[in-house]
Amino acid sequence: MTKAKQITNICCIGAGYVGGPTMAVIAQKCPYIKVTVVDVNEQRIADWNDTDLNKLPIYEPGLADVVAEARGRNLFFSTDVDEAINEAQMIFISVNTPTKTYGVGKGMAADLKYIELCARQIAKVSKDDKIIVEKSTLPVRTAEALSTILNSTGNGVNFDILSSPEFLAEGTAISDLHKPDRILIGGEETEKGQDAIEALVAVYENWVPRENIITTRVWSSELSKLTANAFLAQRVSSINAISALCEKTGADVDEISRAIGADSRIGAKFLKASVGFGGSCFQKDILNLVYLCRQFNLPEVADYWEQVIKMNDYQKHRFAKNIIDSLFNTVSGKKIAFLGWAFKKDTNDTRESAAIYVADELLQDRAEIHIYDPKVTEEQIFSDLKSVCHPEGSEATKDLLKNVIIHTDPYSAMQSAHAIAILTEWDEFKTYNWQKVYEEMLKPAFVFDGRNIVDKKQLTEIGFEVYNIGKGLN
Ligand code: UDX
Ligand code: ADP
Repeated sequence: MTKAKQITNICCIGAGYVGGPTMAVIAQKCPYIKVTVVDVNEQRIADWNDTDLNKLPIYEPGLADVVAEARGRNLFFSTDVDEAINEAQMIFISVNTPTKTYGVGKGMAADLKYIELCARQIAKVSKDDKIIVEKSTLPVRTAEALSTILNSTGNGVNFDILSSPEFLAEGTAISDLHKPDRILIGGEETEKGQDAIEALVAVYENWVPRENIITTRVWSSELSKLTANAFLAQRVSSINAISALCEKTGADVDEISRAIGADSRIGAKFLKASVGFGGSCFQKDILNLVYLCRQFNLPEVADYWEQVIKMNDYQKHRFAKNIIDSLFNTVSGKKIAFLGWAFKKDTNDTRESAAIYVADELLQDRAEIHIYDPKVTEEQIFSDLKSVCHPEGSEATKDLLKNVIIHTDPYSAMQSAHAIAILTEWDEFKTYNWQKVYEEMLKPAFVFDGRNIVDKKQLTEIGFEVYNIGKGLN
């Protein structure tokens, strides 16, 4: 094997939840590498460059400190995509790969148009050999497609494609990046491919022990990411399925999680019953997996994984229906306070958040929804409701959205409410003055805790009717 070349200049295309934090940490840990993160979204880049670190485009604990340390030293954010590509020896692609909303594979397959555009741009601009790293979650064999586009330019430039999926979870991105369970790098089995792998290994070795860096062939790496997310989501759907049974039988799902999690073969993580999983990855990646299986004529395998999504939809629906049923079969004209809108705590990301779907069901039953989330903006909430639930501009949408009020103070959101629904597990919800909340609510005062985070005993003693996931009413 020839000696892998040392990387001193990296470009990352896409300054989102993956590209931003990942590059910030690479720059922090490798001061000798110039890292430039580029994006077509000018506002996003301006926000990454804002001197006020509270204005970074994404909220992630610990991120501001890392950016403060590296930005301007060896970490740069720019809209000049061509220049950054041209200068870099290694290019990470971290653009979004949403589920297709049109044509073949609509609602299932990953939309690769952004990836393809990147590849064409890299091919057009590059004047010397480059290593391309897929960071976005992609269908198996995307690297092959990338390679075809990149290597058909005929201008003599050589591209090596690696797959190195990111496993960070939002809300804990910086600690996940600082101490990853593993780094996965897939590359071709040729000598050139192995050299490219070693070049990326050398970057990570600045802070990750070599034994935690797994190298595989490209397709295994690509499929590992989909599989990891499918397994994690499956655990959540499995425990949520049991939560429904608990509510009928009087068993307590949190006790079951503790009991089964103590079995080292099962493990304790990802057994927290909830209103349903959200986030940009789980649903998208499973749909993608299901689509791949159907394409390869494996309908039983496709159906098996699709059930994880169906169970999640059922859980969200069950939660909304329970609110309506408990409030005497209608929420029409009733004030429901939502605590939380993000898909989990410690992030301002709302993609696929269960809150969106629960809100939609309640709005359809003509509820008035008052929302408080510590980090999500009013603009984002309305954009979620419009894009996910209703066609932009329709009269019906306008009418429904008149019943949505956003609050910056949780107590005003809950004042005079018929019910409170907890959709995100923000820590601050546990510390509220629940006595005061109770006194200011209509009676009977209902709390529907979709995250099992408030103290049911304490709230019941105050006088609330508390509904938890997987515990039943009493
Ligand atoms: C996930 C993967 O964990 C990460 O490795 C991958 O890179 C991207 O997708 P993320 O979506 O950021 O990360 O969050 P995660 O912590 O996995 O939670 C996903 C959803 O599942 C959230 O809505 C969360 O509230 C829910 N969840 C998680 C549960 O309901 N119960 C659990 O026990 C765990
Ligand atoms: P993720 O969670 O995967 O990081 P995001 O949507 O947060 O997804 O970020 C993806 C970013 O990629 C967006 O800011 C988007 O503007 C950017 N992007 C998409 N296509 C391109 C492109 N061709 N060139 C540069 N940036 C792009």
